Amino acid sequence: MTAQRIDGKAAAEALIGRVTDDVARLIRDHGVQPGLAVVLVGDDPASTVYVRSKIKRTAAAGMRSFDHRLPGDVSEDDLLAIIARLNADPQVNGILVQLPLPKHISADRVINAIDPGKDVDGLHPVNAGRLSAGTAKLVPCTPRGCVILAKGVRGTLAGLDAVVVGRSAIVGKPLAQLLLAEDATVTIAHSKTKDLADVCRRADLLFAAVGRPEMVRGDWVKPGATVVDVGINRLALPDGKSRLIGDVAYAEAEKVAGAITPVPGGVGPMTIACLLLNTLIAARARAG
Ligand code: GUN
Repeated sequence: MTAQRIDGKAAAEALIGRVTDDVARLIRDHGVQPGLAVVLVGDDPASTVYVRSKIKRTAAAGMRSFDHRLPGDVSEDDLLAIIARLNADPQVNGILVQLPLPKHISADRVINAIDPGKDVDGLHPVNAGRLSAGTAKLVPCTPRGCVILAKGVRGTLAGLDAVVVGRSAIVGKPLAQLLLAEDATVTIAHSKTKDLADVCRRADLLFAAVGRPEMVRGDWVKPGATVVDVGINRLALPDGKSRLIGDVAYAEAEKVAGAITPVPGGVGPMTIACLLLNTLIAARARAG
């Protein structure tokens, strides 16, 4: 049996459609048009592609889009001054600073400077704390997208054994919190985990977010499990082109899993959809 291929593109389009309708309603009923500011430092090719896509989708959903491109050698003080301006701008409901930042800039200081009410990445310590307390409104986009996809397959996640491979602040840790809030039994595994393959084999829900191409093999997957692959690894090909591959060996895992997300076309599109959702949530909070 081959696993169901989870269509993240279709799920993202459906979510964006709902957000677009709600944006129109917010404008009509409250005169508030949500606005998202995206800040890109430097010209990393992957980040440039992501940012372009975010800006395009923001405008298509009926939101205002503010685009700030800064040179790679911008000073931390100048970046912080821009964030202070965006914090004070009533037309800006969401602020996203594309990561990673150049080494001379402290990502911590930058994230801490964003107004928590505009932190559509959900990375500010106030929002991370609220997520842990179970009271968060703005939660990180990729983990939110992962949970929506898993619920789309399983309905409820209550009582399921979930294993998250990876413990980053942007994916692994918040994903574990969201799964816990869905009443799953959650294990966070990482590079120091003993018998990682065995731990993964216990998972009804397996999330791979390590950034290592095809690290999760087919025989790490429990038969019938739902596998969500967060990895986006660019593999250089001999002809000079490149191909995206995930953290899961898809061809092996699809023979064992019940359902699995492809790369590309799985989690990736959901991240942008959830960014738009977070911008709407931030704008609604302002509308009262
Ligand atoms: N870089 C890669 N993914 C993300 C994300 O979700 N948010 C931000 N700000 N930067 C990223």
